[in-house]
Amino acid sequence: MALKLVVSEVGKDFLIPVLDSVSFGVETGELVCLLGPNGCGKTTLLRIIGGLESPTRGRVLLDGNPVDLRRDRKIGVVFQEDRLLPWLTLRDNAALVLGPIGLDRSAREARAMEYLGLVGLRGFEHYYPGRVSGGMRQRAAIARALAIEPELLLMDEPFGALDAQNRRIMQAEIRRIWSETGRTILFITHSIEEAVDVGTALIMLSARPSRVRARVANDGRVARARLIDDLNAMIIEEVEKQERSGASRAAAGDPSAEGAC
Ligand SMILES: Nc1ncnc2c1ncn2[C@@H]1O[C@H](COP(=O)(O)OP(=O)(O)OP(=O)(O)O)[C@@H](O)[C@H]1O
Ligand SMILES: [Mg+2]
Repeated sequence: MALKLVVSEVGKDFLIPVLDSVSFGVETGELVCLLGPNGCGKTTLLRIIGGLESPTRGRVLLDGNPVDLRRDRKIGVVFQEDRLLPWLTLRDNAALVLGPIGLDRSAREARAMEYLGLVGLRGFEHYYPGRVSGGMRQRAAIARALAIEPELLLMDEPFGALDAQNRRIMQAEIRRIWSETGRTILFITHSIEEAVDVGTALIMLSARPSRVRARVANDGRVARARLIDDLNAMIIEEVEKQERSGASRAAAGDPSAEGAC
């Protein structure tokens, strides 16, 4: 199958090198979870893939072409915080992003309603974000990202701000939404359990400066508990590496030195 997304030797240097050289591919319809130590560059990588940040090295191809946000809107993004506009209803929040793709007002509203329905918010379309729960706001943020019918949906710890019960519900919901829409999704999470419950494939980034440490198929051939143990062992090694390199830079007097959290 053709690759939907190709990340090829992507590197990023800020004050310190954050991404060394990250390469992986995502097939159409995969739901790939990206894991890695705190501060290893997951959000930076997601921003580069989404065209919100430029890489220092390497390139990203979507359907074989570089992403050009000014020309086309093929990538939807959901962040940890919902980023809804509080003065617009849920429907108008979801419809707002559809202006630049050339739909008229009634088509925008119909599209917004369709996706609010998909995420389980039918009946709440006229509510303002301040009048619904955190889980419902995050559903609305997912509807807004899906409403542009993106080739790729990027999610950066989308359930990180939810309580444990809502988080479990949303993990099941994202699997349902993924299977109903067939979208290709790249999902960042801190939680190994969440990644194993949500992803069809798992990518573990190494300590900073990051590379891909492992790519694991999550197709049931390895038992859930075993996979979680293996991934936990890997992440502990990477966190320790990152802490050691932070400590050695601090000892050398580098003011930008920071360990993993
Ligand atoms: N705009 C920026 N300017 C300078 N440094 C930055 C910038 N954005 C991120 N960084 C640094 O890059 C490193 C990686 O940050 P990033 O947020 O990508 O990590 P992360 O893996 O998403 O972390 P977390 O697990 O906490 O979400 C950090 O050391 C951070 O301070
Ligand atoms: Mg992050």
